[in-house]
Amino acid sequence: MKTTNRTSRAPVGRFREKTIVLGVTGSIAAYKAVSLARRLMAEGAVVQVVMTRNAQRFVGPLTFQELTGRPVGTDLFAPSDAVPASMGMPHLALAESADLLVIAPASAHCVAKLAHGLADDLLSTLALAAECPVVVAPAMDGGMWTHPAVCSNVLTLRQRGVTVLEPEVGPLASGRTGKGRLPEEDAILSAIAGALHPVKDFKGQRVLITAGPTQEALDPVRFISNRSSGKMGWALAEAARDRGAGVVLIAGPTALPPVPNVTVVPVVTSEDMRKEVITRFVDSDVLIMAAAVADFRPAGSSPGKIPKGRGPRTLALEPTPDILMDLPSRRAGQFVVGFSAETGDLVERARAKLRRKALDMIVANNVTEPGAGFGTETNRATLLDRAGRCDALPLMSKLELAHRILDAVLEFPTDRLQKGGTS
Ligand code: PMT
Repeated sequence: MKTTNRTSRAPVGRFREKTIVLGVTGSIAAYKAVSLARRLMAEGAVVQVVMTRNAQRFVGPLTFQELTGRPVGTDLFAPSDAVPASMGMPHLALAESADLLVIAPASAHCVAKLAHGLADDLLSTLALAAECPVVVAPAMDGGMWTHPAVCSNVLTLRQRGVTVLEPEVGPLASGRTGKGRLPEEDAILSAIAGALHPVKDFKGQRVLITAGPTQEALDPVRFISNRSSGKMGWALAEAARDRGAGVVLIAGPTALPPVPNVTVVPVVTSEDMRKEVITRFVDSDVLIMAAAVADFRPAGSSPGKIPKGRGPRTLALEPTPDILMDLPSRRAGQFVVGFSAETGDLVERARAKLRRKALDMIVANNVTEPGAGFGTETNRATLLDRAGRCDALPLMSKLELAHRILDAVLEFPTDRLQKGGTS
């Protein structure tokens, strides 16, 4: 077995206690950086904005200043700018204070300067001085993005360890359609989360996660389902991805956007989900069943819409197959985590499910508790495993809980998981 000591615990919130320098360069997409700054702050970051001269032609520094409550860095030589004179050279002080530098939007010119180490303004100089992770979200016209000079600059940056996101395809400011739009905000935030997470302790692990509800059709317009939003499974997918895992997310119908750098497999019914889990289980190292799979479905589904007005109806239901009970034998030694959604007798019922479903671990949550269970941003859970662990955790964000679950998987006393290292 290859094991590595974990050097730090997983973060408790995505960007809490992180200082993120947001560099904004001259692009029509500069206005989108305002919303990005807001999202970073909402997720706990201290945001320090630095703008190039051309960026200020698109958006005024005052907008960012009012939003972040901090002066915006615009001038390499202005001591009163973002950094008081007492803190020394602005570019060095900003570089030192940053946990991460994100440049969004990054123009083709900015990408070229970064690649060649040019330092002729505050942003490019601090980028050169910064020792923190750097994330670049380019925005430019499609023809520019595919120009050999830009391709070579992007390659140089990536080889140097800079995270350069792929621009989005769509309508461009030039009126053309192509690849050059600023990446979606969620993709930028995920890249930041990944770059901030130094511990890749799931590197090489293939993690299969289920999320969301299933829908069981009554007729072509009606179905029975449940209140799962998918947020718990989404948080697990993001956490596992950020810790280096290859993640497949089998998701029932939800309103959530796709998770960047995660293979999302959409399903509708419990039977769809069962087939996907069974097929993909053999190629996985860890399975986490966070989905609220329907326990019952209509005994028959009508091919046409059932007409109203035929008097009261009784719905005949049949049990759905239990996916966890149907798993093929764990020849490859997969680690299986179930969830237990309860409304009372939490630990007793969860422990019974742990045994009945032959799980390695179960995450028990009381879905009637305020802030816990369905649809919420937070959850409170008790972790139980077959080695006897029983850990009642406090209320926390679903992302934090996801990290605690992954911590517990790695802490399980077994040599079956090949643990990855730090990077
Ligand atoms: O999606 P959110 O809005 O964020 O809400 C999160 C959640 C409440 C859905 C989640 O935290 C949770 O509790 N998920 C499991 C819900 C559930 O179905 O629990 P259960 O106790 O009924 O099932 C036990 C386990 O068996 C679960 O891992 C479930 O996925 C699995 N199961 C259930 C039925 C079935 N036919 N096959 C299964 O494998």
